[in-house]
Amino acid sequence: MTIKIIGFGGSFRKESFSKVLLKEAQKLAPKNTEIEVFDRFNEIPLFNQDNESNPPAVVKEFKDKIKKSDAVLIVTPEYNYSIPGFIKNAIDWASRPYGDNSFEEKPLAIISCSTGMLGGSRAQYHLRQALVFLNTHPLNKPEVMIPFVDKKIKDGALTDKDTADRIANMLEELVKWSERIKKTV
Ligand SMILES: Cc1cc2nc3c(=O)[nH]c(=O)nc-3n(C[C@H](O)[C@H](O)[C@H](O)COP(=O)(O)O)c2cc1C
Repeated sequence: MTIKIIGFGGSFRKESFSKVLLKEAQKLAPKNTEIEVFDRFNEIPLFNQDNESNPPAVVKEFKDKIKKSDAVLIVTPEYNYSIPGFIKNAIDWASRPYGDNSFEEKPLAIISCSTGMLGGSRAQYHLRQALVFLNTHPLNKPEVMIPFVDKKIKDGALTDKDTADRIANMLEELVKWSERIKKTV
C-alpha cells in the first residue's frame, strides 16, 4: 500500500529554497511513499470567516487533499521569526469551520530553512504551536532545521549530502510515525 503525504509550504519567490526542498523531499521519499506537493497558495484569498463554510474551490481542494493524506509535510522559511503569512492563511482556511478541521489527528513533519544560522527554528516552533491547537501529531525527532540554505542549493537542486540524508531520515520516521498513529485513531 502506498503512503500518501501531502507537502506544502515554500514561498512565492521563483527560486524559493524552501520550494526546492519540497521537490527534493519528493525524490527522497522512502519506498511505497508518494509526496504530492500542493502549490496553489497564490490562488488562496485572505481568510474570511464569513466564507468558512463555503470556501473557494481551491481551499476545498486543499482541505480534501489533506483529509485524504496519510501524513502532512510542511516546508517553511522563516519570515520575521515566524512562518510566512500565506502559510498561516492556508492553515487557517484548512482548519475551519469549527468541527471540520482537515488537520485533525494528522501525523505531520516540518522542515524549516533560512539563510541565517538558526535554520528557521523560530518559525518552526511557531508552527508547532499552531499545530498543537489543530490536534495534529507532529513528529518530534528528528528535527530538521536547515541553516545557510542558500549555500546548500545550487541551480535549483540540493547539493548538501548531509541535508539530503537528514530529510530522507525524517521522511522514514514520518512514515513509521504515521503507521503508529493509524493504529491508534
Ligand atoms: C520578509 C522576510 C523576513 C525574513 N525574516 C527572517 C528571519 O526572521 N530569520 C531568518 O533566519 N531569516 C529571515 N529571512 C530570510 C529567509 O529565511 C530567506 O530569505 C529564505 O531563503 C526565504 O525562503 P525562500 O528561499 O523559500 O523564499 C527573511 C526573509 C524575508 C523575505
